[in-house]
Amino acid sequence: MAKKTLRDLNDLSGKRVLIRVDFNVPLNDDGSISNDRRIRAALPTIRHVLDAGAVAICMSHLGRPKGDPKQDAIYRMDRVGQRLSELLGKPVKKLDQVVGPEVTAAVQTASPGSVILLENLRFHPGEQKGDEAFAAELAKIGDVYVNDAFGTCHRTDASMYAVPKLMTGKPRVVGFLVAKELEILERLLTAPARPFVGVLGGAKVSDKIGFIKRLLERVDRVLIGGAMTYTFMQALGQSIGNSRVEADKLDVARELLSLGQGKITLPVDHLIADRLDASAATKIVEGPIPDGWIAVDIGPKTIAQYADIIGQAKMVVWNGPMGKFEDEPFSRGTRAIAEAMAGSSAITVVGGGETAEAVEAFGLDNKMTHVSTGGGAFLEYVEGTPFKALSVLDDADERKP
Ligand code: 3PG
Repeated sequence: MAKKTLRDLNDLSGKRVLIRVDFNVPLNDDGSISNDRRIRAALPTIRHVLDAGAVAICMSHLGRPKGDPKQDAIYRMDRVGQRLSELLGKPVKKLDQVVGPEVTAAVQTASPGSVILLENLRFHPGEQKGDEAFAAELAKIGDVYVNDAFGTCHRTDASMYAVPKLMTGKPRVVGFLVAKELEILERLLTAPARPFVGVLGGAKVSDKIGFIKRLLERVDRVLIGGAMTYTFMQALGQSIGNSRVEADKLDVARELLSLGQGKITLPVDHLIADRLDASAATKIVEGPIPDGWIAVDIGPKTIAQYADIIGQAKMVVWNGPMGKFEDEPFSRGTRAIAEAMAGSSAITVVGGGETAEAVEAFGLDNKMTHVSTGGGAFLEYVEGTPFKALSVLDDADERKP
């Protein structure tokens, strides 16, 4: 069932809008933000709320704090607040509490058009437990609830599920980012343009079994790359040298190969290295990987073949890098897939996490139809997992004939 969106709400003026965003951004060792994509992705929703004369109360988790204030200091929301303020071009009142008197006072005195950012939701033990007493504290500060945290929609943390559940009678809608993510993923799952090609990479088959199975039911072709290739190759009885493999997942790989017969394409050649280091000796091989060598990227013949298939597709979905792309000498395959997708006229969808970051690092994110902000959420949505966090939101009105 489609959900009501922020656009369905006419009168936000003077309202306090509680917006669950996913500001769980990657951090450098010193706590600085290494990629602010998720903050930028929430701006349309926040701006809309502000332009309508409402107060935007933003709340998010950041990282996985352990409950030790000293160690967890890196996960305070201060830097996120600063970045949000820079991007919005206006002050953001970042609070040091998640719930409590400081929050109550700030919300009561906030003027229309102002932005409040709560402290990291996961600093409160109730958040990940889905605790209703904690959720009630959050629920009471908002007149409207907006879920614009696509990347967290597969979680049932208090702010995602119990809070909107407790806000019965008040509007509970999805923001523009979630609406956009759902629209493109639904298109991909229910009405794909054909030929529809899936490109799958990354280290582990085991992380993506459900995703691959559901995709196989829908796509015309699946192009495999990344370290998962070598689990498939070993399952086929081929030598993989010292390449990374999930030795306990060979049965799964065989099952997927049999389900995907005629659809799954494995690399025909590989870039191999004598050790996992950017300065390693490398060479290209076709077929089996020699002993002592590690496959680190797809090879040039595979790149040409995959680029050709992508060039003929009408829809492409990509999740997972083709090799150890963070080392520049091993990034050619991943870059080539990004370039082929960016240059094609197909509908192109990039699944979040490191694939999205790679595409952005290549400066090609704006050439894709959609780059998802979801990592786990993207995989689980495609896999068909129902999201409780969405089920609790208001259903869209039936369209009148
Ligand atoms: C994500 O990055 O996938 C979301 O922000 C959820 O974070 P989590 O995996 O720590 O729950």
